[in-house]
Parts: sequence; C-alpha cells; structure tokens
Amino acid sequence: MDKFDIVIIGSGPGGYVAAIRAGQLGLKTAIIEKDKELGGTCLNIGCIPSKALLASSDHFVFAKKEAVKHGIMIENATVDLNKMLQRKDKVVKTMNTGVRSLMKTNKVTTFEGLGTITAPGKVSVKGSDGSTQEIETKNIIIATGSVPVELPFAKFDGKTIVSSTEALSFTDPPKKLMVIGAGAIGLELGSVWNRLGSEVTILEFLPRIAVGFDLELSNLLQRALTAQGITFHLEAKVSAVEVNNGGATTTAAKGSEQLKFEADKVLVSVGRKPFSAGLGAEQAGVEFDEKKRIKVDKRFKTIVDGIYAIGDVIAGPMLAHKAEDEGIACVEGIAGKDGHINYDAIAGIIYTNPELAGVGLTEEQAKEQGIEYRVGKFPFRANGRAVANEELDGMVKFIADAKTDRILGAHILQHAASELIAEAVSVIEFGGSSEDIGRTTHAHPTLSEAVKEAALNVEKRALHILNR
Ligand code: NAI
Repeated sequence: MDKFDIVIIGSGPGGYVAAIRAGQLGLKTAIIEKDKELGGTCLNIGCIPSKALLASSDHFVFAKKEAVKHGIMIENATVDLNKMLQRKDKVVKTMNTGVRSLMKTNKVTTFEGLGTITAPGKVSVKGSDGSTQEIETKNIIIATGSVPVELPFAKFDGKTIVSSTEALSFTDPPKKLMVIGAGAIGLELGSVWNRLGSEVTILEFLPRIAVGFDLELSNLLQRALTAQGITFHLEAKVSAVEVNNGGATTTAAKGSEQLKFEADKVLVSVGRKPFSAGLGAEQAGVEFDEKKRIKVDKRFKTIVDGIYAIGDVIAGPMLAHKAEDEGIACVEGIAGKDGHINYDAIAGIIYTNPELAGVGLTEEQAKEQGIEYRVGKFPFRANGRAVANEELDGMVKFIADAKTDRILGAHILQHAASELIAEAVSVIEFGGSSEDIGRTTHAHPTLSEAVKEAALNVEKRALHILNR
C-alpha cells in the first residue's frame, strides 16, 4: 500500500474536518474509525441527537403550553416517543451519510477498526472481525475524543445509572429522573425529559449551575428552568447511588443536611475525560499531562515528530467547533501553511430554552484578572421581535475594556442565543469594540437588535430602554 501523508485516528468533528482540509490541500489522507459509523460522539451520541430531541421536545412544550398564547388551540397534545426517537435516529443517519460522502469527495480513504500507533509513521488497524491492516504514513493526527467520567460509587450500568448515551434513548420518560451535574449535558438532557413528562431533579456540587458561563445569566437560566419544573439542589455532594428494584436511591450531603432521593434513572453528567485506550500513544513516546490529556505545542505536535493531537484528547474546552478548528489549523501547519485558532473567540452554548451562550471573558473572570471593564446589557423583553415571538426571557450582556472599548466577552440568554452569539464571536475575532456593534445597522425587527442595544449600553445609550 502507498504511504499516506496524513492518517487521522478518530472521525469525530475534529478528525473528519481535518481529513476534509487535508483532502482539499491535496494530501494523501486516511481516517480510521473504530465504530461502525463516522462522526464520533458529537454526531452519533452527542450534539446532533441531543439537538434533535431538544427540538422535538421544545415543539411539544409549544403545542401544550405556548400555542394558546398565539391563539392556536391544540387539545390533548401527546408524545409518540417511539416516533420522536426514530426521527432523532434518522437525523443521525442523514449526517452519517453526509460525512461518508464528504470523505469520498475529498478522496479520503476510510478504515474501519481500532487504530494503534505501532511506531512513529506506522499505524495498525484492527477490525471487528479480528483482521489487522498495517498503514504507513508521514504524519499521524490523534483525534480520539473523550468519554464520560464515571463516579466511583455510581458505575454506569446502562440501565439505571446511565450516561448521556442511554439518556438519548429512554424508551419511556422515567417517572423520576435524577441528574448529577448541572453542566451542559445535565441541563440539556434534564430539559428534554422534563419537557416529556419526567420529574427531574438536578444535583450540583458547586453553588451555581452552568459553570464557565457568566454567573448572572446562569442564575437567570436556573430561574427559567425552575419555572419549567426542574428542581435544583446546589452545593450538593453526592456520596452514594444504590440501585434497588427498578430504581436507585441517591444520597447527597448539603451542608450538614443529608438528602436522599428516589429515582427510576440516574444520569451521571459530571464531565468527560480524554479517550486514548488502545491507541499506543504512550508506547510511541507521546507525553500526557496530569489530566491524561496529550501534550502538544502551538502547532498541535506532540513531542514525537510526525505525531499530532487535536480536540477533546488535548487541553481546552471539550467542544466540537474547537476540535474542528484545531484539526484545520493542524493540517494547515503540516502542509506548511499558517494554521490559525483564537481561543478567546470560542463560544460555549447550552441548548436549553432559553439557550445560554457565551464567548470570551465572563464578568467574574474580568474581575479576577483585575481588568477595568464596562458592562452593557439589554433585556429581550424590550426587543420588539422577542415580544412578537412571545420569548421574553433573557438578555444580552457585553463586557468591554474600560479604556479601549474592545469587547472582551459577550453573553446571551435567549431562545436563539446560539445563533445570535455568532456576531459577537466575529467582532471579538476582529478585535472590535462595543462601538463597532453599536454603530452597525441591524435589521428591524430582529432579535439581533438586542445585541446592538446591549453594545450601545456599554456607553449607557441604549435606545429602547426605560431605565439604564
Ligand atoms: P461539565 O463539566 O460541563 O459539568 C459537570 C458538572 O458536574 C459541573 O458543574 C460539576 O461541578 C458537577 N459535578 C462534578 N462532580 C459532581 C458530583 N460528584 N456531584 C454533583 N455535581 C458534580 O460536564 P458535562 O455536562 O458532563 O459535559 C461534558 C463535556 O461535554 C463538557 O466539556 C461540555 O462542555 C461538553 N458538552 C458540550 C455541550 C454543548 O456545547 N452544548 C453539550 C454536551 C456536552
């Protein structure tokens, strides 16, 4: 077999996008995937199926509770969960087919099996039938992603104590769902099952939800989700989960109080950890940090020549778009180009309703770093389009440098926050100021006018506001 220029191990958004870019640059490229389908966690058991269920369950809530406000009378809206899950699976299939076609179009060779680095420049692929193929390559990119963190006292059994994977496919809404961890996964999947009728309780170790996001907006999100029926217990340290007939008892300490909860299912969503089992990276001389993440330099090269790593398996936020852009920058670097990624301009999003989106510094981080900053906020209840849409929750919040007005952070809580945040990301990428957004004409009536108004309000000159 010919020698490849690049062999990528793992076909998640990091790996498959790197493969596309390598193909575009005319490099002879292969991608190895141990699972049947391409696309990794994000496409198969993460971002995409969860967004499918979030969309469906949001429509159900609209039919049941919101439609009437618009004068639409829907009596007895019910859920055919089987059909909802089938649609989700179809969405995933469509995307699987898409990625496979993209590999073909970009002349990327696909290998199915577990990829192991046997030496720099050599990778073996072990198929599920036991067969082994040896591949030679000039460069290897490790893009093996991450797996859910397990609690020592609550090992996943796939039935009662579950990870996000199983929580995407419950065949009935659990009567009571216990969620451990109020991060992106707990809040999103907690929302899905709450909307579909489960009694959802979320236990969080920290005194707040959505850690990493601006505290003020996280607190507003907690209030909105509480109003939707989710119960939160913060500063709750879970110490035991005991599986009993058909359910589980979760024990948690909250201050001096001992809390006990019965539930049919327990979703453990306390973070993810890098995955590199069976990869042979350590034997090949690749270095890991204390969190078992692969150490790389600015160009994603490990200490071994010809071996690179990107995405969840290295440091940084575990986000698909971060992995994608690292994949592109890594491949461009290998091809002798100037790969670029700006870690200050990577948005994080929690796709609840309202959605929570943030990019750059939170107000707390600006304070901690001793930066002199100004804040501009604007509530959606003062935005015409939000009022017309009957989506009044939330606000836009900018953090701008007090001296230069450069935007340091932007935070949005709104049904469409995931889309609205893109404007702030672009302006941060270009090093823009709040004035730049404030002086830009935004179409009327749009939700994006609230972004403009919040930017204007850094100077305390928002227009449609009664009290600043
Ligand atoms: P996370 O790290 O976002 O949140 C985990 C939460 O669990 C934290 O708030 C933590 O304080 C809490 N926790 C940890 N141990 C606990 C314990 N023993 N008892 C109670 N609470 C405890 O992790 P999550 O939600 O599992 O997500 C994993 C990764 O996947 C994250 O990096 C996340 O960014 C990413 N992800 C991103 C999504 C998105 O962009 N929308 C969606 C899903 C996941």
